[in-house]
Amino acid sequence: TLQRSLVLVKPDGVSRRLTGEILRRIETKGYRIVALQQRTADDDLLAQHYAEHVGKPFYAPLVEFMGSGELVAVVVEGHRAIEGIRTIIGATDPTAAAPGSIRGDLAADTGEKVQRNLVHASDSPESAEREIGLWFPTS
Ligand code: CMP
Repeated sequence: TLQRSLVLVKPDGVSRRLTGEILRRIETKGYRIVALQQRTADDDLLAQHYAEHVGKPFYAPLVEFMGSGELVAVVVEGHRAIEGIRTIIGATDPTAAAPGSIRGDLAADTGEKVQRNLVHASDSPESAEREIGLWFPTS
């Protein structure tokens, strides 16, 4: 099944100059970059993107972190891309993420309330559609 996923290289990934490394891993696996934009995200966009997390203890620090600098938004396409990209990225918690995954190899637990885990990817076809519409409203 051909799918599209919305990937974000988060501000920690951009500031650590890991954008190329992260996108290299996704492309080398065989996925195709369909659209790409470096930008900052305002509170309104982040509130929509993270609507399911409103009210959780990490929500405020998450939005503060995600708005703290430039990020890179990418639409990625491939067969079973949603599951496949999440496998490449690894578990949310950098300490638990498997070696060989982006987070397992490149992210460290900062001990803070929010996981600075370098990258986001859509977790279902429904989220992917919704997120792509938010970040790339014309596509
Ligand atoms: P992301 O894939 O962008 O989706 C929600 C984000 O919230 C997640 O990555 C983490 O950065 C953060 N997050 C999710 N769960 C937790 C948690 N239990 N504690 C801290 N941060 C979390």
